[in-house]
Parts: sequence; structure tokens; C-alpha cells
Amino acid sequence: MSLLDIHVLGSAILRQETERVTEFTPELRKLADDMFDTMHAAKGIGLAAPQVGRRERLTVVEVEEARFALVNPEIITRSGSIRWEEGCLSIPEVFAYVDRAHDVTVRAQDLDGNVIEVVGSELLAVCLQHEIDHLHGKLFLDRLSLLKRRAALKAWEEEKVKFPKGLRVLPVGDLPPERDESTSADD
Ligand code: NI
Repeated sequence: MSLLDIHVLGSAILRQETERVTEFTPELRKLADDMFDTMHAAKGIGLAAPQVGRRERLTVVEVEEARFALVNPEIITRSGSIRWEEGCLSIPEVFAYVDRAHDVTVRAQDLDGNVIEVVGSELLAVCLQHEIDHLHGKLFLDRLSLLKRRAALKAWEEEKVKFPKGLRVLPVGDLPPERDESTSADD
């Protein structure tokens, strides 16, 4: 099990466009596994590659029984509307109600490159939309009214001092993994 450090609001990579994945390698699978581990350790329901400092267009989602690693995901249908209180592993302790589509269909690839479609409603739909936003440099704060965004940023001002390097290092018994670009098959 490898836990990755989570980039928090202010880290430039959260605002960058990701790169389409074209090669379905063991390294991609390892990244997805590490992202699931990291998401579980942080008690989240979704995590996107930029949040762990990576450029791959990859996200992991786990909402109740639904558990997916989605590569190159795109929303192909959306309908209805829902308002849900969202948070983000990259903006700890900040929550706000966001308006989203109630139902979405997402087309993506799995870790082997097979095309898949995921249909989600309510929380799963919210989560899919939130994570796909991350893959395009967008955060839930961007979807708030100016006043609500100001309030959220004010709350974050107090929280962010806990992350002086812009990284959220999750507590584990062991040392965190090496943070280099080469992916070694460790533990
Ligand atoms: Ni998020």
C-alpha cells in the first residue's frame, strides 16, 4: 500500500489541464491503486490525478457499491438538477452547496483501455462531476456564487496554515513513498 501526498488549494497542478492517457500500462494501474489507497486513508469518495500531483486524465471514485477507476472520462449526458453539500480532499474542512446535474452518463476507459459507460444519480453523479472537473483544472469553489466563494475562501485561510508546503501528508505508520516520476513497484 502506498499513500500519496495530496496537493491542497494553492498548488498549481490543481489548475492545470490533464493529459489524455493513451497507454494502459502497469504503472497506470499502480497509480490507480495508490489513489484508491490514498482516497480511503483520507476518507474520501473520489480522487483525481492532479490532486496527487499527476497529469494523467485519471480519477477514482467509490460511492457505496460503485467503485471505478475512470481513464479519460467525459460526461455524455446530463439531466435534472441537484444541490449537494460538497467538500474536497484538496480543500480540507471547507464545505459548500453546489448545483449539479442530478443524473449523468460518463463514457470513459477502464485501466485496460476498454470503453465503459457509467450511469450515476445523486451522490454518484455529484462525485463524477466533481472529479471530472478536477481533470480540467476546475474546483467546486468555481461553481459557487461570489459571496459563497468568498466565505469558503475565508474558511480556507484559517485551514491552509496546516499545509505549509501545499501538501497534505496522510498519517501512516511508515515513511511516505518516494516522490519521483519513475514508478517503482514497491511494497
Ligand atoms: Ni475534489
